[in-house]
Amino acid sequence: MARRQQYIVVVAALCVLLLLWHLPRSEKVESLPAVVTHETTEGAIIDYRPGTPKPHGQSYTKTVVVARQASEDVAWLENSGLNVTKAIYVVDKPLSPGYEVPLNKGHEAMVYLSYIIDYYDSLSDVTIFVHAHQITWHNNDLLDSDMITHIKHLSEAHVTRVGYFNLRCHHEPGCPDWLHLDRPDDQLDMHRKMEERAFSLAVWKELHPNVPPPKAISQPCCAQFAVSRDRIRAIPRAEYLRYRNWILGTDLSDTFSGRVMEYSWQFLFAGVPELCPEMHVCYCDGYGICFGDAVKFQDWFDTRAEMRKLNAEAAEMAGVPAEAEAKRAKAHEMDVHLERLKREAFDRGKDPRLRAQEVGRVWREGDGF
Ligand SMILES: *[C@@H]1O[C@H](CO)[C@@H](O)[C@H](O)[C@H]1NC(C)=O
Repeated sequence: MARRQQYIVVVAALCVLLLLWHLPRSEKVESLPAVVTHETTEGAIIDYRPGTPKPHGQSYTKTVVVARQASEDVAWLENSGLNVTKAIYVVDKPLSPGYEVPLNKGHEAMVYLSYIIDYYDSLSDVTIFVHAHQITWHNNDLLDSDMITHIKHLSEAHVTRVGYFNLRCHHEPGCPDWLHLDRPDDQLDMHRKMEERAFSLAVWKELHPNVPPPKAISQPCCAQFAVSRDRIRAIPRAEYLRYRNWILGTDLSDTFSGRVMEYSWQFLFAGVPELCPEMHVCYCDGYGICFGDAVKFQDWFDTRAEMRKLNAEAAEMAGVPAEAEAKRAKAHEMDVHLERLKREAFDRGKDPRLRAQEVGRVWREGDGF
């Protein structure tokens, strides 16, 4: 009898194990890099470690640093009603006292570095570095490509955790495996990768004399990002001065020196040459737009591409109105479905538990985003 009971217990335990083995396991996503350290040319050690967000419900102070030319209009930001400090630099005309650059060179990089150098001791919790345009192709599609919407939805807790957050979630252009320092001149893709001509091995050695050149340099394009105060200050002020002096002294033009910096921020602020977070993680944890997982995220974009294709085909079918109408009706149906999925993704992102779950982050009752 006892033997038989033991047998039953063992079989039952095996069944439970087998069941657990087959249960869907939550996808493990490495959303935070392990602690990275880096030694500066002056011998200081930079410790890139994840930050700790404030307790749920506490607010963060924010500063938006804008690089603009006199010809560009930033009324959109001035009239946005956003509760942020605005540091607006006019690079080609000294219009704003306190926000001035030593030279108009290096595009937005000169502004971003000058702000950090001048305000190193009085930073907001989160600093958001952006261009002067409100709506542009390289802003995020699901945030209407509108910078005001980005700033409204940005998760300061996420920025605090990761330290450095590229505002662009979409990988193209810039990720992955983007820029190679050793690509021969005759193999450069000049149209897509102007920065590759600018960012030579010699430039890498000027900027990072004590770091072996990486296999590739990658991050989503376009030099707009948010950085936590802790992360900015984990790096000695001298390091920002060193980068700015490089811009001031280099023979590269305004545009090319700017391109080099565009692909240097992830190294400066995160200590890694390549930083390409998964797109659905960027959208979900960074902005609270959560489709559930990487596959559902990609499905949404695939369906939309299909819908747009149907509409384009319908537009070409003037001669066969019935078929064109059928395609249009199908596209409309898809559009309604897509809008519903998008609304649901925003709703899912309002729940801090679901956000953490989607990106594979530990979450406990009472935790915020
Ligand atoms: C603006 O942000 C600050 C800093 O987080 C906060 O203390 C203040 O209550 C906010 N003001 C409004 C009107 O929301």
